[in-house]
Amino acid sequence: MRFLFTLLFAAVSLHAVSGLAADDPARGKELYASCVACHGDSAQGNPALKAPRLNQLAPVYIVAQLQNFQAGIRGGEGDSDSARQMAAIAATLADEQAMYDTAAYIATLESAPAAPTVEGDVVQGRGYYQQFCAACHGPAAEGNPALHSPRLAGADDWYLLAQLNAFRSGARGTHPQDRTGKQMRAMAGVLPDDQALAAVVAYIGSLPQ
Ligand code: HEC
Ligand code: HEC
Repeated sequence: MRFLFTLLFAAVSLHAVSGLAADDPARGKELYASCVACHGDSAQGNPALKAPRLNQLAPVYIVAQLQNFQAGIRGGEGDSDSARQMAAIAATLADEQAMYDTAAYIATLESAPAAPTVEGDVVQGRGYYQQFCAACHGPAAEGNPALHSPRLAGADDWYLLAQLNAFRSGARGTHPQDRTGKQMRAMAGVLPDDQALAAVVAYIGSLPQ
């Protein structure tokens, strides 16, 4: 009982310290109007614009990425054109509350996962995934908020491949303040070659959404 109280107290004070109001998906819907052109009205993504599906992601991960884009930790000097484009948009969000509200709205949206575009050896990919990825992203690629690891199941395969290549080339995860990106950059480096990348992405695509 005492333990429960301590937990409750910790949760309440954390919220007070953050100074944020409860998430407001209705306000998030208004803010999301500036995202629709690229990510789509259901946040289903648009490969022609290299804008990924977002509605499968945990709000906490969306907010963390928006913060990184806004701070130039992601999408800064040396990053891909698509990441830099997204950084410019993130700069227009007024504050952290706006990010939480937008993420809360995105969480209410639904769409079917996109059809696969990356071909790879699913059996080989399963081996790589279980050995090198599952510890952080979860056995079913469901993600693990405690480790800041995003859900990968249901993500666009072309986007997963592009991000793995960005981590490997240093276009993502090299900013000195990007602690989580640095971790992931090290992991992207353990995959031996392009064939292994395609295999692991094809395997993730084969998992239930
Ligand atoms: C001009 C097109 C464009 C607009 C408008 C746009 N985005 Fe993006 N967004 C992108 C692109 C392109 C990427 C992929 C960046 C990369 O390749 O690293 C992206 C990536 C993201 C990511 C990272 C997803 C992940 O899995 O890491 C989030 C979160 C995101 N956008 C949220 C938003 C929100 C919220 C808005 C509206 C406030 C928005 N975007 C508006 C183009 C856009
Ligand atoms: C040590 C924990 C850890 C391991 C192991 C790990 N990851 Fe990650 N991964 C992360 C974290 C943390 C992030 C978020 C990075 C950030 O905040 O920008 C991430 C991000 C990603 C992203 C970007 C997703 C997006 O929506 O932007 C992809 C793709 C990815 N991981 C794939 C993999 C694959 C494939 C493996 C196995 C080869 C793997 N990860 C192993 C921790 C890990």
